[in-house]
Amino acid sequence: MERSLIRKEVTPFLIMFGSLIVTTMIIDTLLHQFELVWIGRYLGIPGTILILLSFFYSMRKRKLIQFGKPKKLLILHETLTWMGALMILVHAGIHIYAILPWLALMTMLINVISGMTGKYLLDRSRRFLAEKKMGYLQQGLSEEMIEKKLFWDATTFDLMKKWRAVHLPISLAFAVLGITHILSIFLFWEWI
Ligand code: HEM
Repeated sequence: MERSLIRKEVTPFLIMFGSLIVTTMIIDTLLHQFELVWIGRYLGIPGTILILLSFFYSMRKRKLIQFGKPKKLLILHETLTWMGALMILVHAGIHIYAILPWLALMTMLINVISGMTGKYLLDRSRRFLAEKKMGYLQQGLSEEMIEKKLFWDATTFDLMKKWRAVHLPISLAFAVLGITHILSIFLFWEWI
């Protein structure tokens, strides 16, 4: 039982977070080695764009858009935020002059860790809800309908609700700090 908990929940979490940090360090070292540090300065832009694109999941969930399968969009959310966070980490690792970017970076990291925790709570509730599938099958629902119902059942599961009460304010704090940081750079460049 305990061994399966470590295998199913702790190991993937460590791999996902560890690979983010290790990849950041490798890219950072390479950029310094080949005197390409200037690239890092600009990586903040594609990183932000990737994180913004990841919100298609949230928009789908809140019915602002109709296209895309929720499950696929959630995988996209996880992948794009991982890649976006990587770019922002490299961007931040190279030059941090002020307190504001540090705060924005810290909230991003907390956001990423919280996201990864949510992913495993979700997987856990999915496994738990597998039993529910039997019930739907007995009701004679189609396979596609059942998949859809189970997906939303899993995200509304009680633990997920509690987790969301943490993840959403963290996302908001990250958004506010990130936007303030970006605006302050625009001011610095005299764009506004
Ligand atoms: C920059 C980092 C991130 C931000 C700003 C962010 C933001 C959000 C937001 C705002 C939601 C709520 C969607 C909604 O209810 O409308 C959400 C949900 C979620 N995120 Fe993230 N996230 C980040 C990183 C991650 C990462 C790295 C993962 C996992 C690898 C992840 C996994 C999830 C999961 C599983 C959900 C829950 C799905 C649900 O409750 O419907 N997030 N995220």
